[in-house]
Amino acid sequence: MSDVDAVVYDANEVVTVEENGELGVYEDAAVAVVDGEVARIGSSGPVTREFPPENAANAVDADGKAVIPGFVDPHTHALFAGDRSDEFEAKLRGKTYQEILAEGGGILRTVRATRNAGDDELLSNLLDHLDTMLAHGTTTVEVKSGYGLDTETELRMLDVVDRADDRHPVDVVPTFMGAHAVPEGRETEEYVTEVVEEQIPAVADQGVAEFCDVFCEEGVFDVPQSRRVLVTAAEQGMTPKVHAEELAHIGGTQLAADVGAASADHLLHSTEEDVDALVEAGVSPVLLPGTAFGLGADYADARTFLDAGAPVATATDFNPNCYSQSMGFAASLACVEMGMTPAEALVAATKNAARAVDVEDGTGTLLEGTPGDLAVLDAPTYVHVPYNFGVNAVETVVKGGEVVADGGDVVESREVVDRA
Ligand code: NIG
Ligand code: FE
Repeated sequence: MSDVDAVVYDANEVVTVEENGELGVYEDAAVAVVDGEVARIGSSGPVTREFPPENAANAVDADGKAVIPGFVDPHTHALFAGDRSDEFEAKLRGKTYQEILAEGGGILRTVRATRNAGDDELLSNLLDHLDTMLAHGTTTVEVKSGYGLDTETELRMLDVVDRADDRHPVDVVPTFMGAHAVPEGRETEEYVTEVVEEQIPAVADQGVAEFCDVFCEEGVFDVPQSRRVLVTAAEQGMTPKVHAEELAHIGGTQLAADVGAASADHLLHSTEEDVDALVEAGVSPVLLPGTAFGLGADYADARTFLDAGAPVATATDFNPNCYSQSMGFAASLACVEMGMTPAEALVAATKNAARAVDVEDGTGTLLEGTPGDLAVLDAPTYVHVPYNFGVNAVETVVKGGEVVADGGDVVESREVVDRA
């Protein structure tokens, strides 16, 4: 018989996301993980008789708490150097995101700091953020480049993302985002030509990035420029993603539908036609309530997407402008500010989030035969994820059957993994 990696037993409830996108809630339940995958889920008695915890490599007494699928965070800019906490204060005093960017701050400031940072510093920064994410229950995360804005630094960022994926228990999905901003002193058209003719071929040759994303936004890249980037990237093997209608409505959602993007993200200013176009094209809407919170902006209209049957996903958008690694906090905002139910917020943070990054092995569902990635909460029901706002509701994290975080601390990465 195969080795049993983990048995998580005596949970008040074990929550799955079923094929139809609804939650499955098993009461007084247990989960057994064998060879990294969920082998059995059901009532604690029968599961622990079939898979005795004492024979498992990891026996986790869930002690009347809730067990949920590990979170998938499908949109982050988690690799960067420098600090922009002073911009948080400037925004509180009334400065806008665009004004800060126009003064050479914002993304451009992080670009300067990232270009000046060595690979080891970048890797160490990213691993620290992955630790925080893991302790908050995230077991898969997408990370974008886009603070290099030149071929050398963009490749360096993707290489660091790849190394972090090798070294850290969190699964990291890499996205190339050379079209994140126009570098200082450059013309937009001429920079887009560099992205298309120089950066994309080099990134394709490097072979790390799975996706290519563009900041399709007023004053950044317009729709034709964004289309040029995404079509070229798709021809060279990267799946498109679009930052669409974050600050203004310029047509990024329709572009995402046209180019068959995996997701369109932000969507604060999307129209009903946009919603229809996304649903028609099967593009995942990724909503980022933390960004609206941080900007003091209006939130995306989640209900319109849900009513249209779209597989709504949420993400942290963790970056220096939106400084939260917590999918739980995003879930609180999804419920309180976007009117989602706790069940919808959990599906958005797990199964639908995995769809948005084309992870199609059942990650985010906790169904039998899918990866054994789960979080044991320090609470009796999954509702505590959004309910317990501003606090980490996650106690223990299991990734592929390994206990990787416990009591807010990462078990694996610091001790076992050589960071430098
Ligand atoms: O998704 N909007 C563009 N990119 C990020 C912000 C990045 C930054 O400000 O450093 C976002 O919000
Ligand atoms: Fe973003």
